[in-house]
Amino acid sequence: MKSWKRSGFTALAAGTALGCMALLCGCGIKSETRIVRISHGQSETHPEHLGLLKFKAYVEEKLGDKYEVQIYPNELLGGAQKAIELTQTGAIDFVVAGTANLENFADVYEVFSMPYLFTSEEAYHEVMNNRENMEQVYASTDKAGFRVLTWYNAGTRSFYAKKPIYTPDDLKGLKMRVQQSPASVNMCNAFGAAASPMSFGEVYTAIQQGVIDGAENNELALTNNKHGEVAKYYSYNRHQMVPDMLIGNLKFLQELSDEEYAIFREAALLSTEEEMESWDEQAEEAKRIAKEEMGVEFIDVDIGIFRDKVSDVQQAMLDKNEAIRGLYAYIQKVNEKYTEKKTVQEGN
Ligand code: GCU
Repeated sequence: MKSWKRSGFTALAAGTALGCMALLCGCGIKSETRIVRISHGQSETHPEHLGLLKFKAYVEEKLGDKYEVQIYPNELLGGAQKAIELTQTGAIDFVVAGTANLENFADVYEVFSMPYLFTSEEAYHEVMNNRENMEQVYASTDKAGFRVLTWYNAGTRSFYAKKPIYTPDDLKGLKMRVQQSPASVNMCNAFGAAASPMSFGEVYTAIQQGVIDGAENNELALTNNKHGEVAKYYSYNRHQMVPDMLIGNLKFLQELSDEEYAIFREAALLSTEEEMESWDEQAEEAKRIAKEEMGVEFIDVDIGIFRDKVSDVQQAMLDKNEAIRGLYAYIQKVNEKYTEKKTVQEGN
């Protein structure tokens, strides 16, 4: 697998040098197909991969004579940060990456790293599905040479480790992997742990070899990425809902005709629908597999204690980063709407 990783990369560079054109010969007619490359860090059964297959099918159904979409899973083209750089330069065309990886390109993305930003899944989905609002956020990386086309649900993140975590006190002295973003590091340290940022693909070995004690992620990390083999305790403290983004090279997107652009956008939205449909199912299934087949213990903790521990973090982030204030205020409104709904329902 590793040698493929390297040779795949060389082949990619060569392909790029050729201007990403493949010559297809059929019945003596020569036509040129533009290869569209998408990189992501998940396995081929992950909801995001399934969503991207939808993207591929739709683009090729509508524009198959001009475009062939190739999907590279499992960080084959590099971890999120590397793959974003490749997308920036146009060496590849699209990448799926979590918003934590975008903080260095646009300050507004820091908002999603705030602990306990969304107070319900409903609020999270409503905010992310508000396309008009999100378009402004998506355009915030234009200056960096890429733009977000759509989002994918990446569930709710919680801590998991080699030993059980019941309260923030149990995190004291533990080295926990976080995503490579300053806000994620701050958050983890605020919980009392020692944050250890690294790319997603390195986490399994780091836990196995004892370089770190654990990490934080959704349930699929336990199964799809096999972290449940090396970390047997998953504590539902639910500190973050961090979306993943489908990011496209801006020049590529700009050079599409209006009609083509509309098709790529539609393909992106269809991929989100597909991804979200399989997410809930797969998260449930991951929990079952982790528990029954991998022996992972799921711990329901008192979330209030964890929330209290990091209660100053949101305000500190707001004070420092002006770019997040507008979106934060909007998210609070949506949060309230669902809190009110719940209170009314409970009252009935
Ligand atoms: C999730 C998320 C990824 C992210 C990863 C991580 O799997 O979907 O986008 O890279 O967590 O923690 O790095």
